[in-house]
Amino acid sequence: MARIAIVGCGLVGTSWCLVFARAGHQVLMHDPSEAAVASARDFIARSLPDMVAQGLLQGRSGDQVMALLTPASDMAEAVDQADHVQESAPEIVDVKRALYRELDRMAGPATVLASSTSALPASSFTEGLAGRSRCLVAHPINPPHLIPLVELVPSPWTDRAVVDRTETLLRDAGQAPIRLKREINGFVVNRLQSAVLAEAFRLVADDACEVGDVDAAMAQGLGLRWFFMGPFETIDLNAPGGITDYCAKLGPMYHELAKEQAVVRPWDAGLVAKVESQRRALLAKESLPQRRSWRDRCLAALVAAKRQVARDWGR
Ligand SMILES: NC(=O)c1ccc[n+]([C@@H]2O[C@H](COP(=O)([O-])OP(=O)(O)OC[C@H]3O[C@@H](n4cnc5c(N)ncnc54)[C@H](O)[C@@H]3O)[C@@H](O)[C@H]2O)c1
Repeated sequence: MARIAIVGCGLVGTSWCLVFARAGHQVLMHDPSEAAVASARDFIARSLPDMVAQGLLQGRSGDQVMALLTPASDMAEAVDQADHVQESAPEIVDVKRALYRELDRMAGPATVLASSTSALPASSFTEGLAGRSRCLVAHPINPPHLIPLVELVPSPWTDRAVVDRTETLLRDAGQAPIRLKREINGFVVNRLQSAVLAEAFRLVADDACEVGDVDAAMAQGLGLRWFFMGPFETIDLNAPGGITDYCAKLGPMYHELAKEQAVVRPWDAGLVAKVESQRRALLAKESLPQRRSWRDRCLAALVAAKRQVARDWGR
């Protein structure tokens, strides 16, 4: 059992509490707002029955998970003797800089300081710290208790052993960490998403098809394979001779397409209005909250199914 401090218990911090507690770790919950910690505990308590039913608690009961959560109003108390701190404070570089000065002072030298930041490189808020080699980015996809991927991004001064330890902790907790070799804008996931979104907007801007057709192309087509394999494995399996065969046959076509896609287009107001009006014809604005609940239920059910498939047939 490790001792984990969650610093910042908003949307993402709350979900991290679930990730570590269901893995059997002791979780210290700290947030400058005591109301945030209370609502994090409420959210977790409300989510547990569904998670038990869907087999997403790694064999633990809801009571066992709740018993592993301890609010800590004092940050020093939360991070004292922690093996791992998962910081999920607001995405403001000055807030992170001030917070890491405190964390570096309060946490013992063996404690790893991992940030959930979506876009800030760790070098932007850890440079001057005595303990900067134990700091890194561990970027989840929200909500991490359902979506396992975590992007581990070291700064130029992060100790490799710190990345190794974080990878092991997360993998053992049931997450799926990937390692970046260096800091890069957008990490991996947002770069991939950016490429797909750029093309989705281009297709609608050029009136090649409607918004609903682009979404269907992904949800009823590409996405079914991408749900359990990446783009490289997909093309490796899509030609009799594997990836080299695929690239020999289709590489020139993709090269021509990439030339058409190379010029960056802004998402200007007219284009956004066109996408918005086509989406609103498919879903009224007042139905967005209801549709979000539908999305979350689908996501939980599909994650449970994916875990079952991995257990039965391997990853
Ligand atoms: N929301 C997402 O989809 C998402 C996904 C991945 C990563 N992230 C990253 O996770 C981090 C948190 O995002 P969020 O969406 O949970 O934000 P949030 O606003 O829901 O939660 C932030 C929490 O931090 C607390 N806080 C404020 N100042 C603090 C301080 N000095 N020390 C500790 N806690 C403090 C706030 O009280 C709040 O409870 C950000 O860095 C964000 O980029 C967010």
